[in-house]
Amino acid sequence: MSDPIVETKGIEVRFPLPTHFLSREKPVLHALNTVDVGIEPGETFCVVGESGCGKTTLGRAIMGLLSPSAGEIRFKGARIDTMDDATRKPIRAQMQMVFQNPYASLNPRRTVFDTLAEPVQHLMPEKSAKDVRAQVEAVLDATGCDQSWQRRLPHEFSGGQRQRIAIARALVTNPAFIVADEPISALDVSIQAQILNLMNDLQAERGLTYLFITHDLSVVEHFGTRVAVMYLGRVMELADTETLFSAPKHPYTQLLLDAIPKLEGGSFDKPRQPGELPDPVNMPPGCPFAPRCPMAEDRCRAERPALRTLPNGTQAACHFAE
Ligand SMILES: Nc1ncnc2c1ncn2[C@@H]1O[C@H](COP(=O)(O)OP(=O)(O)OP(=O)(O)O)[C@@H](O)[C@H]1O
Ligand SMILES: [Mg+2]
Repeated sequence: MSDPIVETKGIEVRFPLPTHFLSREKPVLHALNTVDVGIEPGETFCVVGESGCGKTTLGRAIMGLLSPSAGEIRFKGARIDTMDDATRKPIRAQMQMVFQNPYASLNPRRTVFDTLAEPVQHLMPEKSAKDVRAQVEAVLDATGCDQSWQRRLPHEFSGGQRQRIAIARALVTNPAFIVADEPISALDVSIQAQILNLMNDLQAERGLTYLFITHDLSVVEHFGTRVAVMYLGRVMELADTETLFSAPKHPYTQLLLDAIPKLEGGSFDKPRQPGELPDPVNMPPGCPFAPRCPMAEDRCRAERPALRTLPNGTQAACHFAE
C-alpha cells in the first residue's frame, strides 16, 4: 500500500437544525461520524449507501466546501482542513469536483471558454492569458469537446455534452484528485457509458485518483477499485470491490446486495429490506444498523462496533462480522 493521496481521520460534520420556538432543545444532525478513509493514488474509491447517509457531505468536506467540526483531512500528507485560503489555493488546483447535475453546475450566462478559463485564472494566477487559452484548448481536446464550443453557452448543449464540459472544467488545472458526485445519474442511460469511458480513459492517461460517489452497483462493480459502504454518517464496510461483492461481511452490505435483483443497473437506492432508518438527530447508542439488522443481539444495541480489519483485509463495523 502506498501513502494515501487523501486521508480523513475521525472527521465529523454536524448541521444545526432549526429550533422550534417553544423548545429549548437545539437539534443537531450528525451527518458524518468519525469517518476514516485513506484514498490511494490512482484508485477509484467508491462511496455507496442509501440517500442521506452522508456521501455528498464526505465529498464536500474533503473539497473544503464545508468544515468538519472534528477530525483531520490531509492531501498528500499536508493537513488541509485547517489551512488558510491563500495557502490552500494551489492545493485547490490539484483537487476538483464534478457534480451530479450538469444543468445546475454550469453557469448559464458563461461561455464554455469563460467557464474553463475561470479555475485557471483564479487558482493559477501566475498563468498568462496565452497559457490560459492553451490550457483551455488542451482540456477540450482531452475530453472530446470541439474547439468551436468555446464561444457557446451551456443551454446549447445536451446533458452528456454538458457533463463533458463539467469534466473539462474539473481537469483544466491538471488536478491529481477528483471527487465525482453521482456524475452520471442525471444522464440518459445511453450517454452514461460514454461519460464513464471518458473518465476511465482520463484516469489512465493522467493517473487520476477518483472519489466516486454513486448508488449504481453495476458502476461500482466495473469501475471501482475499493468501496466504502456508508450508513447514517458512518463507514460500515470498506473492501476491495471484488471482495465486497463476493464476500460481504457487514449484514447491511449483505442485505443491500441480496435485495438487488441481479440486473444491470441494480441500485442501492431502494433496498427492499424491512425497517426504518433511525432518526439521525437522535441516534441509538449502539450500532446504528441494529434496529434493522437480522443478526442484532443485546450487545449491538448497547455497544457501537468500531471499524476493524478482518483476516481477509476487509474492514467492517460489526461485532459479528466473522
Ligand atoms: N446544509 C445542510 N443542512 C442540514 N442538513 C444537511 C445539509 N446537508 C446535508 N444535510 C443532511 O445530512 C445528511 C447527509 O446528507 P448527504 O447529502 O451527505 O447525503 P447523501 O448520502 O449524499 O444522499 P443522496 O444519496 O440523497 O445524495 C442528510 O440527513 C441530509 O439531510
Ligand atoms: Mg448526495
